[in-house]
Amino acid sequence: MPHIREAAGGTVTEALSPRSRSRGTLWARLGLRTRVTVMFGMGALLLSASMGGLSYFTTRHFLVSERGTASTHQAYVNASLIRKELRAGSTQLVPLLVQADSGTAGSDSVLEVAGQWYARSFSVSRSDLPRSFRRLVLSGSAATQTFQLYGAPEFAVGIPIPSVHAVYFEVFAISDLGGTLRVLALALFAAGLVTTILGAAIGRSASGRSLRPLTGVSRAAVAIAGGRLDTRLQAASDDPDLVGLTTSFNQMVDQLQERIEREARFTSDVSHELRSPLTTLSASLGVLEGYRTELPPQAIRALNLLTAELRRFERMVSDLLEISRSDAGSADVSLEEVTAGELIQRSVAANVRGLYGDPIPPEIRVDPDIYTARLRVDKRRFERIMANLLENAAIYAGGATSVEAHYGPQRHDGRSTIRVSVIDHGAGLDRSERTKVFERFYRGHSSGKRGAGTGTGLGLALVAEHTRLNDGRVWAEEAEGGGACFVVELPIVNGTIT
Ligand SMILES: Nc1ncnc2c1ncn2[C@@H]1O[C@H](COP(=O)(O)OP(=O)(O)O)[C@@H](O)[C@H]1O
Ligand SMILES: [Mg+2]
Repeated sequence: MPHIREAAGGTVTEALSPRSRSRGTLWARLGLRTRVTVMFGMGALLLSASMGGLSYFTTRHFLVSERGTASTHQAYVNASLIRKELRAGSTQLVPLLVQADSGTAGSDSVLEVAGQWYARSFSVSRSDLPRSFRRLVLSGSAATQTFQLYGAPEFAVGIPIPSVHAVYFEVFAISDLGGTLRVLALALFAAGLVTTILGAAIGRSASGRSLRPLTGVSRAAVAIAGGRLDTRLQAASDDPDLVGLTTSFNQMVDQLQERIEREARFTSDVSHELRSPLTTLSASLGVLEGYRTELPPQAIRALNLLTAELRRFERMVSDLLEISRSDAGSADVSLEEVTAGELIQRSVAANVRGLYGDPIPPEIRVDPDIYTARLRVDKRRFERIMANLLENAAIYAGGATSVEAHYGPQRHDGRSTIRVSVIDHGAGLDRSERTKVFERFYRGHSSGKRGAGTGTGLGLALVAEHTRLNDGRVWAEEAEGGGACFVVELPIVNGTIT
């Protein structure tokens, strides 16, 4: 495997056209973890609300009926006391009521004897009793009733005492019951809130735990997609569910790796096999060249055609060999530290000479402070990158107008970058073509131009491959004022400039 193989390498096809997010419902877009958290929270809320409601209403029912029974009992005791006194001929009725009430806290009583009304205090009188309740009791039926008096809840007991032609009413304040119930409701609400938060927290932590293996899978998948085919999942736990996932994932990658390597080997073998007949053909053509002057014009034309096609074929084979080597992971990358300015200048100078009718050499514009920036690159590969880009500019756009180098933005891994752009003012590339040109054997519509006969459609694919092996990326954009601009981005050593 080469030393440098990273997802950031190669072309920036993906970076420039990010996959559009799936547009589901809002719920689906929340993400699995959030959804599980919400579900757990809702479950806890439902549970605590129903348990709380049940507790509240049961307690309330119990407290009210308990208080009702006690109050009724008390009222009957008082009523029998009054009956006894009235029978004994007592006429001091108000002191009698006061005496009857003395044992009961928070109650007031009203007495009717032969059409006359007596009240123990000013706080509750005859008119304060609900009319229907009063009538019912006066008609001879004992009854109880809950009602509001001056905004406070009261419990009234009415007891007819026919033997002395009297009716006894006792009114109990039950506002303390309301207070107790309010405290209870508040406590239950707080408990419900805590349960809901706890439920959501448990959901979040549980979903986090169960999704953790998936994070590993996703990281491994990204690494594999980035070319690190030897990435495997670690069988970290004995969990039978996870062991199954890990095993099948690793098996899948094994098969994938084997297949990719087999295909790369095949291409490499084919290219190798083609080399020796090509050498023979080349040698035979050389012999024929020696007889050029003796050949008739048609044969010379055929000879020219044959020579051109053979050159193209040779180049294709050597490009294929190079590509298949990096596919198989057997590309040798020899990295050395160089200063950016020198590297750019040398590789441009080495490549502009002898290109299709010697176009005007491109202007080299390197930011002065980039000149000393240190890069760790494979020089041969960088020169191949520049050679292919300059050659394309020469073929398709009459030569590159400038080669520029500027600082790029910082990368995700925190390293600073430089961007080397090869700019021409030819026809440029359609937006749809800008990523396709880096595909293998892709030849655009401008490939019918002068000198294009030598093209194989592998030039830019190799540029992408070389850039990836140099830990960089490459893409095409439109040059200012029209034309093509190919940008190669490479990281700077330590992200610092010396
Ligand atoms: N500077 C350029 N201007 C316009 N088109 C270009 C330029 N460079 C490359 N292309 C297009 O990209 C295609 C792919 O280029 P390349 O991979 O080098 O293959 P080849 O040069 O063998 O056709 C070319 O066929 C051409 O259409
Ligand atoms: Mg080319």
